[in-house]
Amino acid sequence: MFETDLIRRLNIQFPIIQAPMAGGPATSKLIAEVSNAGGLGSLGAAYLTPETLRSTIQEIRQLTKQPFGVNLFVPEDATESQATIEKMTAYLNKYRTELGIKENPSINIATESFEEQVQVLIEEKVPVVSFTFGIPSKEVIQALKNQGTLVIGTATIVEEAKQLESAGVDAIVAQGSEAGGHRGTFLSNKADSLIGTMALVPQIVDQVSIPVIASGGIMDGRGLVASLTLGASAVQMGTAFLASVESGAHRVYKLTILSANEDSTAITRAYSGKAARGIQTTFMQEMDQYAGAIPAFPIQNAMTRDIRQAAAKTNNPEYMSLWAGQGLRLATDHSAGAIVKQTMSQAHALLGNMLKLKDKSEEIL
Ligand SMILES: Cc1cc2nc3c(=O)[nH]c(=O)nc-3n(C[C@H](O)[C@H](O)[C@H](O)COP(=O)(O)O)c2cc1C
Repeated sequence: MFETDLIRRLNIQFPIIQAPMAGGPATSKLIAEVSNAGGLGSLGAAYLTPETLRSTIQEIRQLTKQPFGVNLFVPEDATESQATIEKMTAYLNKYRTELGIKENPSINIATESFEEQVQVLIEEKVPVVSFTFGIPSKEVIQALKNQGTLVIGTATIVEEAKQLESAGVDAIVAQGSEAGGHRGTFLSNKADSLIGTMALVPQIVDQVSIPVIASGGIMDGRGLVASLTLGASAVQMGTAFLASVESGAHRVYKLTILSANEDSTAITRAYSGKAARGIQTTFMQEMDQYAGAIPAFPIQNAMTRDIRQAAAKTNNPEYMSLWAGQGLRLATDHSAGAIVKQTMSQAHALLGNMLKLKDKSEEIL
């Protein structure tokens, strides 16, 4: 029942993908734990240098013989006027003063070379590679596929899914608005495309002929069974693993997740310049009142880095980015392997209940 075509192609046991989470939470241990438990662990590699990316892939291979995935951000050109940058720098200085760090720091907006990152993935013959924030070139997709890699794209509306399919990806993550972290939106200039997972998944399933992976708000076996019923071939879960034993999320971040509620999150551009869902903080609320324009991603991301790092050092969650989805209340501090197993056994039990309901409805019909 759970062995979908995608699962066979991924060569994994269960239709559970641990979401790639750039910036720390998805440690090699977390990824290996999920893959060893029968799911697919994924490395969020967007911020890694090509050298660190290679050594992390090798480290994961030491910890698991099972398949795993690596995720990259499709790069976007961002330019911002000097005036916008100077205004934001001046605004951010009040947080620097409070945190006791240097004002007006020089900002390094250079991002890792996407081409070099892709080259490492090709050389390392990574089993699964996923992308968000856009469509990689057909050449990149083909080069990965030529090495036997399964390529996944991320869509937040049907049109994005169709364009990803035309570009040649093997499967699509349908990212609903409940999802934690950055929105993968790349076509809508509203920057949000906030379609819930329940509405998004079947509409994408109907419009593409490749497997769809449901993502956003899926925390346990109930979300898994619901997603498969909507036509998804697997689920991608992020928030469910954030407070797990193997997650590299900051201790304060984990504690905040475990005490937060379904209405604790909001979508913000405050930290990175790109729409993302996270637990509401003073930083987000104050930035809502900011009178100027927030620089685009990845410029704003670079501009707030020193503040986020200093806040983490002083265990101050109010200035940290606490990416999380709306399923928060269902997050646990169990081991990632246990989360995979619990999700599967709950899904199994639910299917048993549904079969009983089917028998009953047959009596009535
Ligand atoms: C902390 C965090 C970091 C994330 N980083 C990435 C990333 O690097 N690449 C990516 O494609 N998605 C990323 N996401 C989004 C996930 O892939 C996924 O869409 C999301 O976690 C699903 O919603 P959920 O958190 O409710 O399970 C991130 C999500 C979180 C919570």
